[in-house]
Amino acid sequence: MPSIIVIGTQWGDEGKGKIVDLFASEAEMVVRFQGGNNAGHTLVVDGEKTVLHLIPSGILHRGVHCVIGNGVVVDPEVLLEEIRVVQEKGRDPERLSISDKAHLILPYHKRIDQLREEKRGRKIGTTGRGIGPAYEDKVGRMGIRVGEMIEPDLFRRRLQEVLPEKNLYIEKILDGRSFRFEEILETYAAYGERLKSYVRDTSSLVGDLVRQKRRVLFEGAQGTSLDVDHGTYPYVTSSNTVAGSACIGTGIGPTMISDVIGVCKAYTTRVGSGPFPTELKDEIGRRLQEGGDEFGATTGRPRRCGWLDLLLLKHAVRTNGLTGLVVTKLDILSGLDPVKVCVGYRSNHRQDDGEPVYESMPGWKEALSGIRDLKKLPKNARDYLARIEKEAGVPLILVSVGPSREDNILLRNPWRSA
Ligand code: GDP
Ligand code: IMO
Ligand code: MG
Repeated sequence: MPSIIVIGTQWGDEGKGKIVDLFASEAEMVVRFQGGNNAGHTLVVDGEKTVLHLIPSGILHRGVHCVIGNGVVVDPEVLLEEIRVVQEKGRDPERLSISDKAHLILPYHKRIDQLREEKRGRKIGTTGRGIGPAYEDKVGRMGIRVGEMIEPDLFRRRLQEVLPEKNLYIEKILDGRSFRFEEILETYAAYGERLKSYVRDTSSLVGDLVRQKRRVLFEGAQGTSLDVDHGTYPYVTSSNTVAGSACIGTGIGPTMISDVIGVCKAYTTRVGSGPFPTELKDEIGRRLQEGGDEFGATTGRPRRCGWLDLLLLKHAVRTNGLTGLVVTKLDILSGLDPVKVCVGYRSNHRQDDGEPVYESMPGWKEALSGIRDLKKLPKNARDYLARIEKEAGVPLILVSVGPSREDNILLRNPWRSA
């Protein structure tokens, strides 16, 4: 059953979008299953950069069906803008489907997210896109779904039920400005009208294709250590980002997945607050940030940078059941000598205050972005990859050496073995 999940093994921004775009060239369908427009997935094709927040990273391939699954939280304003951008690039959003069961991000979710961040002593450093409050409402059974937005009477009733409580909370607890019922109603009715042709029962769409043994790619957002259960809580996002979430967030069973590919950056980055044992606040950290252009694709915030943490990777191997590994941005390490990987924590075993124990390895000077064959890599770069692969205990299937679609060393086509 050739259905493959691609997820991030760290704190997001591992290069998932680039990898999904690459593997999508041989897929029939690409499905997002969690998160929302907190994600920013960058694709560089024919020298042109596209950043996607909600639309799956298969959209630049003609004929690939892109699905926004039930597990995603959807900001219709952002989605409409993204559809416009994609249309402008001559791509066909006819082949986009949005689950009727996906939950909406409403204006009050964004305001609550932002006001809480302003007021909170312990800031999470969220993207301010309303992600947490939207998932809270979903689990609290007071969310409004995409399928309800496209039926104006239904939407009116649902908004009547929830808005008074939201307004009270914003005014009394967060000292914020409340929302006018009619304003949201009108705006969302217009969004519903423009989006309704994309809305359907995507669970059967995805399930049918998988059962027919056609190629379906599941695109994770964020990364394993941002998972609400398995990440560095409370400094996490509000969805499950691990591979298991792909089933829940699309409506298929776990027996229908053939492979889980983890994307791992050759070093580590993190946006927002929270523990980061291998963070480098020195010259090397700045060098990684500048060399790797480590600025958030969604908020533009500088990403914190540090050495690769092999414990974090092993955690991702286990919690996702990885069957294959992709290492990205190896090119950015050129010129650093030595290069280090974290193999343990000193003081105690807790990730949040452990002092990292490093293994140093000799670096390499050569630029890597033109290399397409593993044997042509400098020996020290090959040794670095071998060290990662050994610790992960999962086969390395691809090494990415630049942002463009073709900047890769492909070791194993995931579709051939799936
Ligand atoms: P995502 O959220 O996991 O999809 O990753 P982002 O798109 O947020 O961030 C990854 C950044 O690294 C983007 O700017 C990509 O264009 C870029 N990128 C991806 N792979 C490589 C690579 O192998 N080398 C270099 N230099 N850049 C890469
Ligand atoms: P992609 O898919 C990196 C981080 C935020 C913050 C925390 C919670 O591009 O890898 P949220 O807005 O989700 O409530 O913020 O999660 N975060 C990401 N960091 N990449 C992402 O997505 C992220 N999505 C959320 O910075 O620390
Ligand atoms: Mg990103």
